[in-house]
Amino acid sequence: MSNVAQYDVVSIRNDFPILERSIHGKPLVYLDNGASVQRPVQVIRAIEQLYQENYANVHRGVHTLSQESTRLFDDARVKVRGFIHAACVHEVIFTSGTTESINLVAQSYARPRLQKGDEILITHMEHHSNIVPWQIVCEQTGAQLKVVPISDKGELEMDRFAELLSEKTKLVSVVHISNALGTVNPVKQIIDAAHAIGVPVLVDGAQAAPHIPVDVQKLDADFYAFSGHKVYGPTGVGVLYGKEALLKEMPPYQGGGDMILSVSFEGTTYNQLPYKFEAGTPNIAGVIGLGAAVDYVQKIGLGAIAAHEHGLLEYATAKLRQINGLRIIGEADQKAGLISFVLDAVHPHDIGTMLDAEGVAIRAGHHCAQPIMERYGVPATARASFAMYNTFQEIDVLAEAIQKTIKMFA
Ligand code: ALA
Repeated sequence: MSNVAQYDVVSIRNDFPILERSIHGKPLVYLDNGASVQRPVQVIRAIEQLYQENYANVHRGVHTLSQESTRLFDDARVKVRGFIHAACVHEVIFTSGTTESINLVAQSYARPRLQKGDEILITHMEHHSNIVPWQIVCEQTGAQLKVVPISDKGELEMDRFAELLSEKTKLVSVVHISNALGTVNPVKQIIDAAHAIGVPVLVDGAQAAPHIPVDVQKLDADFYAFSGHKVYGPTGVGVLYGKEALLKEMPPYQGGGDMILSVSFEGTTYNQLPYKFEAGTPNIAGVIGLGAAVDYVQKIGLGAIAAHEHGLLEYATAKLRQINGLRIIGEADQKAGLISFVLDAVHPHDIGTMLDAEGVAIRAGHHCAQPIMERYGVPATARASFAMYNTFQEIDVLAEAIQKTIKMFA
């Protein structure tokens, strides 16, 4: 708890200029962090400084600006390696985001290995980006997609996981923290069980990397994917971590510049890791902004951030439970800082609109996780998701805005 006592949310908020905005004449209460968090000035300045002082293409020029850009770009990879505790820098592949990271593994790792009768094992609480790439590769290869069910509380049915995991399973792909339920999955237990029969595991860390410390070596994850814009960095950039031995065996995902050592019409020699998977001019500003973002997150400390957000979750859960007609969707014992809910008499989109009028930004919809909505028999939910800069007073505003919404629709 000492972390919480020392946690200076006021000074953190001062780093995020957008939090000073008013919406419809009310102070902004930004609770749509599961979709995308806001950026601190440290990230904004890093990108501005790059364009004002150091920008040129990377890995291509002998001139000073190209060398400066290249150094900043390469430094960002070193920072990301530290952020997720990868063993080597070249196990960090820059992609456009979690979605591309998962598609890369589906096409470059799974597709060449899958045959009719093989299985990919996912769970019922996956985001569409951890469902559709596997459906595509199953169509391409004749493999089958198997799905671990979830309980009413929103926890994985681990007995069913154990039954579904078999010698037919060629890869397990599981979300670390559910974007729609907030459930923190026992990924270490899943990885250990899969490894016991030689099955590799991809972890979708899009909602975990910004909220809890991630150590890919301690987890022993084979692949770990996350996005820049959810860890206080830019959009359009993300990371695929992969174990060196697996990445080395995989063919390139895309062909183009930078991913080759030599090209002739007789054949092409591919570049070494990580460049083999980074065809074309990369998202230079995005990567450098991501480096600044992970520096910022590490300065605050993920342990302290997790403790603060857990406090917000407990406070918000207690408050929202007191509201008549409000049902929380997803009540796992291990939960991260987000609450999905429905109201008896108000559609989630109307909740979103009414809350916006009070300055409160939440997400309403199926959260790109339609199978979860189907599991709970709802078309959509309203979702309040917390970040390092949210306050207890903002939770009070959220609860009051929900009460006002219920009264309006009564
Ligand atoms: N996956 C993001 C969300 O949960 C967009 O809102």
